[in-house]
Amino acid sequence: MTADPGQLISLADYEAAAEASLQPGAHGYYYGGAGDEITMRDNRAAWGRLAVRPRVLVGVSERDPCVTLLGRRRPHPLIIAPMAYHKLAHPDGEIATATAAAATGAIICLSTFATTGVAELARAVPDAPRWFQLYVFSDRGASRELVAQAVDHSYEALVVTADRPVSGVRQRDLRSGIEAAPARFLPSATAAGADGVTTPAAFTALIDADLDWTDIERVAADSPLPVIVKGILTPEDALLAAEHGARGVVVSNHGGRQLDTVLSGADALPAVVDAVGDRLDVLVDGGIRRGTDVLKALALGARAVMIGRPVLWGLAVDGAGGARRVIEILLGELDTALALGGARRASDLDRSFLCPAPWSAGQR
Ligand SMILES: Cc1cc2nc3c(=O)[nH]c(=O)nc-3n(C[C@H](O)[C@H](O)[C@H](O)COP(=O)(O)O)c2cc1C
Repeated sequence: MTADPGQLISLADYEAAAEASLQPGAHGYYYGGAGDEITMRDNRAAWGRLAVRPRVLVGVSERDPCVTLLGRRRPHPLIIAPMAYHKLAHPDGEIATATAAAATGAIICLSTFATTGVAELARAVPDAPRWFQLYVFSDRGASRELVAQAVDHSYEALVVTADRPVSGVRQRDLRSGIEAAPARFLPSATAAGADGVTTPAAFTALIDADLDWTDIERVAADSPLPVIVKGILTPEDALLAAEHGARGVVVSNHGGRQLDTVLSGADALPAVVDAVGDRLDVLVDGGIRRGTDVLKALALGARAVMIGRPVLWGLAVDGAGGARRVIEILLGELDTALALGGARRASDLDRSFLCPAPWSAGQR
């Protein structure tokens, strides 16, 4: 660690400090997006295009950030987004991230492309609330095996990622060569028949690009775990998710890493909530960097939010402690936003707390 953690008081501070801790290729892989990175930047800017309409004198000495997710009370709405290759940030990898999750009550969503296996993570940090993110492989037997492991090891939901039949064009990675470089060991992908596969690009090629809604229906029918479809940006697809057995959707553009110039999570969210909010749990991610961003997501109708890159910045700067601090900073900011926004409970938030921002948001 090079930075003094006492000086790191915002997610932006962790982002800046992480750049100094990471190899340039790894930093570019974590930071970057697809194409001209228009969507990647807009994910952040879009939250800034909303202004808060705070209410006063509502008595906020006791605040409650609890949410109900998949029928269960959760202490707050933060979920650690599924992200590949945590060991590029820190040798303790996903186990450090899960330790941060256990300490903060955040759910960790383990990626299929994690550098820690499904069972290994559960054994190492049994207290971490955990979901498993599934990339469905062409080898369906291998995917079923991963789901079975998740069930056996008390993962609470399956997050099936739908927006990556192929990888987006990520120019930072093409320039650094990281996609073609020998990869870290990916236990789940290797268990899925990827023996001899050694590069990130080759791991991606294992994903079935022909996945369709009948597959979602099959996964949902076969799995005792609730299925959440991640990577939804339209009400049409959200309705299809509801019709094919999903219990939730994540409104997400994969952190702007897949198709550039698609809508931001913040801009896509309201129409999805309007279409399926009474049938599905709607989550959102992309560019959430402040407690006010979380408040806005909840006010638009999201049940919970996924946090991506900032957790990796924390991990890179200070392992489990850094990832924990990132979550704690965001929770502290959410608490302040609830108090000063005039909502005692997260569940009190609705769209009356928001209006279009009169300022030009710029790009954060
Ligand atoms: C380095 C990195 C790796 C990712 N790997 C995955 C993955 O394996 N599976 C997945 O569904 N999404 C993956 N994502 C997307 C995240 O789950 C999430 O949608 C996105 O990062 C949220 O945006 P944010 O980083 O601006 O918070 C990845 C994102 C990053 C930054």
